[in-house]
Amino acid sequence: MRLKSFLSIVLTLVVFSNFIFPKEVNVYTSRHYDSDIELYDKFTDLTGIEVNIISAKSKALIERIRSEGQNSPADVFITVDAGNLWKVQDLGLFQDINSKKVDETVPKSLRGKNNQWVALAKRARVIFYNPDKYSYEELKDLAYEDLSLPKWQNKLAIRSSNNLYNQSLVAGMIAKYGESYTESWAQGLVNNFARKPQGNDRGQIMAVANNEADLAIANSYYLGHMLSGKKGDTQLNAGKKVAILFPSQTKGGAHINISGGGILKFSKNYDSAIEFLEFMLSEDAQKHLVENTYEYPINKNVEPSKLMAQFGVDFKEEEINVSNFGKYNAAALKLMDRVGWQ
Ligand SMILES: [Fe+2]
Repeated sequence: MRLKSFLSIVLTLVVFSNFIFPKEVNVYTSRHYDSDIELYDKFTDLTGIEVNIISAKSKALIERIRSEGQNSPADVFITVDAGNLWKVQDLGLFQDINSKKVDETVPKSLRGKNNQWVALAKRARVIFYNPDKYSYEELKDLAYEDLSLPKWQNKLAIRSSNNLYNQSLVAGMIAKYGESYTESWAQGLVNNFARKPQGNDRGQIMAVANNEADLAIANSYYLGHMLSGKKGDTQLNAGKKVAILFPSQTKGGAHINISGGGILKFSKNYDSAIEFLEFMLSEDAQKHLVENTYEYPINKNVEPSKLMAQFGVDFKEEEINVSNFGKYNAAALKLMDRVGWQ
């Protein structure tokens, strides 16, 4: 009888404390997708943990986390490009992610040092071409390394050097080949620009569709968005005119970057944050991600969206650790400036 009443008191306390202190996780995210919000709602339905979202540009969020210091309510930071995650770790604002599930799902090359941040989805920085102009056979061995050859003079569209995706591409080259090779490669690349760098990644794909350039370098998922039809007929029609070529298939493989996240050092909801990251890597969440953002999955049991799979699923991926993009970012920026990459 005594035990019974003791247990009922404990139970009442648990229920009561959940009511008074509802479980929550505060997510600072620079990703602007409505589909991410739907995903967070699914997490709440599944676990009862509320997700509070603060969204802004990556730079602004990092600055905010830094200035909030110990008082920061942020539990999880989500962003795109490993370069951004590296910055947060470099500032000492992440803590280790201790989760067997996360370890088992995310390959080592897609995690920060000491598992302080991990990939939640991946993307390839690929070449877009017009299949009416070039056959796949003609281009299939094309590597990033070849894009600096005089053969491609006036044929290349790529956005400006202030874009982090390009900085990470160059940083990856430095990690593989060193600065001296990368500088002469980047010089050749700049010499081959079809136009002064302008617009976003989608703009480069449009340039190929409109015949303003023969080849464009941009992130893979943009074509998925264009082909989905959700961005309007102009983009849909442009998307239909281009194809993806995965570069460097006979060399190191296509440059892979990530969307990812980490748990902040001053998180007050560590366990909920772990649950949240584990959920983001679950089959259900990964399916939702690939079908809505056209990124590639991290979870091996999930297939890419059909819109992306038509261009190939078994392409060779570059295997260098994505931390290198942050590590060599400053060197990449200086190098791009030296070669006149505007
Ligand atoms: Fe993007």
